[in-house]
Amino acid sequence: MTAAIGTPSEALITHSRALIRALQTSEGAYPASPTFSAYRGYSWFRDGAFIADGMSAVGDDDSAAEFLTWCASVVRRYAGTIGSAVARAAADDPLPDDEMLPARFTFDGGRGADEWWDFQLDGFGTWLWALGEHVTRHGTDPQPYADAVTLTVDYLVASWRRPCFDWWEEHDEHVHVSTLGCIAAGLTAAARLGVLDDRRSRDATNTAARVVEYILEHGVREGHLVKWIGSSAVDGSLAALISPLRVIPPEHPVATATLAAIERDLAVDHGVHRFAADVFYGGGQWPLLSCFAGLAHAALGERDTAAKYLAWAAAQATSELDLPEQVPHHLLAPEHRQEWIDRWGPVATPLLWSHAMVLRLNQEIHA
Ligand code: BGC
Repeated sequence: MTAAIGTPSEALITHSRALIRALQTSEGAYPASPTFSAYRGYSWFRDGAFIADGMSAVGDDDSAAEFLTWCASVVRRYAGTIGSAVARAAADDPLPDDEMLPARFTFDGGRGADEWWDFQLDGFGTWLWALGEHVTRHGTDPQPYADAVTLTVDYLVASWRRPCFDWWEEHDEHVHVSTLGCIAAGLTAAARLGVLDDRRSRDATNTAARVVEYILEHGVREGHLVKWIGSSAVDGSLAALISPLRVIPPEHPVATATLAAIERDLAVDHGVHRFAADVFYGGGQWPLLSCFAGLAHAALGERDTAAKYLAWAAAQATSELDLPEQVPHHLLAPEHRQEWIDRWGPVATPLLWSHAMVLRLNQEIHA
């Protein structure tokens, strides 16, 4: 029997779940990619939160819970840093970027010895958001996470206005709209968990509302969300603010305009580029971004279009059924591809985040 259009093979779905489970470490961390030189040995809160959400959605709730528990333990370990970040922000003397929390951690929760573009805020929003999704979906008790949620809320409430590196670990001179969206989603989720004291619960709710207002006031040009405050370009990550993060309601005109701009500027045959000026590995198309575009279309009720994005993403699997970080069928800057291969080796494959997004979108469309 052939699969319906837009349905990845059972084999890809089974492989994706098994791969993520097999690679999850004993500490609960999800490695971004097991063998890729620059990522080996690290787990990102951003990747991991979306991986946990994918696993939670398909019924691998133990795996998701182990990752969320790992996040909580990492956050607790850096309670001192968070305390300093909060105190210094209140004193109008912000902690320097390189002393803020990093984007990725070694599996035992350390900062690691390798240089990285580390100051990124989005992952601290996405882990709270993923926790909220998981708790709602499975009726899990959020109480064991309460202290780590509290610390993360304090950190984000104190820091959300700061420029930092974006999802792609670039441009720390800017405030990125996708990052703001992750923070708003995380603070909203945290307030709904019911584990915060009254003051923090109000702070989380009010700050989330302020962040969304800020996005709509400063992060929109020509009707669509933009890559960073002051830019007029789009970024493929912005689709996530429509779904699964649900920061911009699908019926809001900014949602449709953002999706249309991503499609116009970044999608080719349902394969989505990160942003127009991308040169990383020649600037290919990212299966995980096609899945975010698919999720946004699904939220708009456009299931057939969502299925086309899913079909494209699933079709990028290798003969071993591994999904890469990006594919080179349509490159924005082909002259830059080789320099990255020389520097870091072939494109990260498998990338766990790519697998998780296929699981999540497939579940959204076909469950
Ligand atoms: C991407 C990040 C990702 C990291 C690990 C980087 O190349 O830009 O978004 O978190 O890889 O997968």
